[in-house]
Amino acid sequence: MNTRIGILTGGGDCPGLNAVIRAVVKTSAKRGWETVGILGGFDGLLTPVRSRPLDYHEMDGLLFVGGTILGTSNKGRFTAKTGHGEVQRVPSDILEEAKANIEALGLRALVVVGGDGSLTIAQQLYETGVPIVGVPKTIDNDLEATATTFGFDSAVACATDALDRLRTTAESHSRVMVLEVMGRYAGWIAVAAGIAGGGDVILIPEIPFEYESICTKIAERSADGRRFTLVVVAEGARERGGDYATVGGDESNREARLGGMGARVAAEIQRRTGQETRVCVLGHLQRGGAPTTFDRLICTRFGTRAVQLVAEERFGCMVAFRPPDMVGVKITEAIGRLRQVPADGEWVLTARSLGISFGDR
Ligand code: F6P
Repeated sequence: MNTRIGILTGGGDCPGLNAVIRAVVKTSAKRGWETVGILGGFDGLLTPVRSRPLDYHEMDGLLFVGGTILGTSNKGRFTAKTGHGEVQRVPSDILEEAKANIEALGLRALVVVGGDGSLTIAQQLYETGVPIVGVPKTIDNDLEATATTFGFDSAVACATDALDRLRTTAESHSRVMVLEVMGRYAGWIAVAAGIAGGGDVILIPEIPFEYESICTKIAERSADGRRFTLVVVAEGARERGGDYATVGGDESNREARLGGMGARVAAEIQRRTGQETRVCVLGHLQRGGAPTTFDRLICTRFGTRAVQLVAEERFGCMVAFRPPDMVGVKITEAIGRLRQVPADGEWVLTARSLGISFGDR
């Protein structure tokens, strides 16, 4: 029988998933291997298995198509993270069922394209005896062991474009415009877009904020003749001593849904300063559309390297970007803890040097 490998996409989608799938299928085909796509994330591995062969020619033109042709899910029977990032063990009967189905499919290995939650599940499958290779995906950029995840650059481009657009309307109306971006426990998108898009205030999970400090910044700008202010808020940002803003009820078998911090911050700014304030929630626009050139390139390199790791039988490993190289690292190195924005790191210092406020002093 021909060598056959499987691939699945797990967790929230993001630009570049199809580019990784394309690279894996094409690289495998060049080796004479077949690739089978598992549909709908990890749950596709459970009986009745949902899978289909992926054809080399089907990959044409996929490089710049958003979403994932395999489908994905960030809930279901394989949940490894709940609440606010609490790790839970996937029940062993679920892992064993998946393992048996992977064997029945005749897969030499399974490539899992996912973020922290999906790679935590992948590690548990690996410990059950499934040959796994990981590829680091998330717009949040919060995985350790890799310089960057794919999807992040595309999300930052989207958020920066939004700030460019909000600036002109803020200026025309002399308003405070608040832009809420994604970023559950790490503020990478907020800081990157805030710097690249000329934000005045950036609020991130890593640096608790105080309204007084934000209002002081707005007053300083007014005193300087600037009647508008751009505030970038990561969805997971919190007031000092405050709580997350969440939407929807708690669902026991998935992570809490964050959202609403932008509206909360906007209302409080308007109440305290009297300046007209509006909020824009960028939401899933950050996760859709074509990947940037940078993401297309690293997705292609991630996918190609993943197939090489399978060939080298380096299971339990994830491809990591260590510029200028793509290397294999243990998945456990990536999922041990979240990679957050260092509060005294170069990005934050760069922003502070420009006069950007983090609402903390
Ligand atoms: O983890 C990626 C992410 O985009 C988070 O920033 C965000 O909180 C979450 O996914 C939203 O997921 P959903 O698709 O369930 O709304």
